[in-house]
Amino acid sequence: MSLLKRLGGSPQPVSGGMPATTAVPTESTVVPDPRSASASVATVPATDGPSPAAPSGLSSRIELPPEKTGKQNTPDSDDTGRLLDLSLWIVDRIQASLGSQTVLEQTPETERLLQERFAHIYRQANAKLPDDQVKQLFRMVCDELLGFGPIQCLLNDESITEVMVNGPKKVYVEQKGKLTLSSVKFASDEHVLKIIDRIIRPLGRRIDRKWPMVDARLPDGSRVNAIIPPCAIDGSTITIRKFSKNKLQISDLIKFGSLTKEMGEFLNACVVSRLNIVVSGGTGSGKTTLLNVLSNFIPSDERIVTIEDSAELQLAQDHVVRLEAKPAEVDGTGRVSIRDLVINSLRMRPERVVIGECRGGETLDMLQAMNTGHDGSLTTLHANTPRDAIARMETMSMMAGMDLPVRVIREQIAAAVDLIVQQTRLEDGQRKVSHITEVQGMEGDVVVLQDIFLLEIKGKTPEGKLITELKPTGVRPRFTTRLEAHGFKLPPNVFGAQAPGTRR
Ligand SMILES: Nc1ncnc2c1ncn2[C@@H]1O[C@H](COP(=O)(O)OP(=O)(O)OP(=O)(O)O)[C@@H](O)[C@H]1O
Ligand SMILES: [Mg+2]
Repeated sequence: MSLLKRLGGSPQPVSGGMPATTAVPTESTVVPDPRSASASVATVPATDGPSPAAPSGLSSRIELPPEKTGKQNTPDSDDTGRLLDLSLWIVDRIQASLGSQTVLEQTPETERLLQERFAHIYRQANAKLPDDQVKQLFRMVCDELLGFGPIQCLLNDESITEVMVNGPKKVYVEQKGKLTLSSVKFASDEHVLKIIDRIIRPLGRRIDRKWPMVDARLPDGSRVNAIIPPCAIDGSTITIRKFSKNKLQISDLIKFGSLTKEMGEFLNACVVSRLNIVVSGGTGSGKTTLLNVLSNFIPSDERIVTIEDSAELQLAQDHVVRLEAKPAEVDGTGRVSIRDLVINSLRMRPERVVIGECRGGETLDMLQAMNTGHDGSLTTLHANTPRDAIARMETMSMMAGMDLPVRVIREQIAAAVDLIVQQTRLEDGQRKVSHITEVQGMEGDVVVLQDIFLLEIKGKTPEGKLITELKPTGVRPRFTTRLEAHGFKLPPNVFGAQAPGTRR
């Protein structure tokens, strides 16, 4: 049934409001268009008469904290709280007037209806707020009914890359690589739960005390994790890695100083020459972004299979098969893991396998694939240095439960992986490729690593920004002949011919 049909055209009396007979039009209320603060306005009849029990303290301007999301708010600002309470009070009434089954979709028709309902109910609340605050109130109501409530404004802000809700009163954001407490608050833990429900319901997912965590995606592709009590001790927690519509390109990374042009040329040559490459890094260091950049170096005539927990990669090539792991159904069955997909992908005649992240036993399958003709594969893993990345691959391979001796696993790693690219998020928020390291083989029981490019930290500006330099170590990798066989004759200066080598 269409929304208009369900709703009728004009405002209805709402629960908790006054009877329809008291709704005498007396004046006009200006309500902003939700799509634009300055755009068209709807003029609707207002009502006189006794006000329903609206939240208190509304008869004059509510002092709001600074709009800037990055700025820290004074904890528990009463005024923000009062505006939030009023918005939720209006939302309740609009919802009651629409019927609880109505699913609102963001269409111009819905927005017009919300304008009318809002104006009607705002009149009933007898709140005499200045126009700018009425606009803000209306935006909050729309965000609550059509979006993801208080965090919708953070999701709309393109300068924010991550949103972290730690219970109702603490919402952190990441901007320019730095985490700050925002001024956004929820009314209560139930309010946070309601937004989690809003996120996961369309996906047919569930969260409850029995299984209190869930991974999901917003309609725009942003990655969401939610975890609630009893496991989240201090309140329901949401973590959103915002999907960037324009994924960073190699030129962006060079412009930001995350790597040099020479490092970019070198990595391009390594990918085209079918080296097996592992991107290593800490949480949020930029691993997936770098994997995306590297994957885009794959020649467009090769068949690529990507395997991810939550599809984030955006490849420009045409011939790409995208696979995504699947969580278990409500009855606990039907899970399809990354490992299952890696095994399956090998029957799909892939020329390249790109694994979003190795977290467990799939590492062994990946190493075996790399060692049995599926070269040119790419993946990421969680480790803080190239040496740690080797240890991590050992541990994760053991998770496959094949009972292989450590030495055998280590030999597989040394034979399979050609290059480790270490991505690091520095203390000042900058993200850099801190090491490009060749895996040269085994010496005794040890995997031999040779840095080809390294990040050097030279100091700090008075503002706290790190001064860094990305440099070749002067050592040419042993696989140079493979690059040459693919037509890459990188000049000696790419590797900093004069500088002394460092062997670790
Ligand atoms: N070199 C870079 N310079 C600036 N911002 C970057 C850089 N690389 C990534 N980012 C930004 O950092 C954020 C995290 O990036 P990304 O998702 O690639 O990290 P990750 O290491 O894969 O995270 P996770 O461990 O959660 O999977 C994104 O918003 C991304 O746009
Ligand atoms: Mg990632």
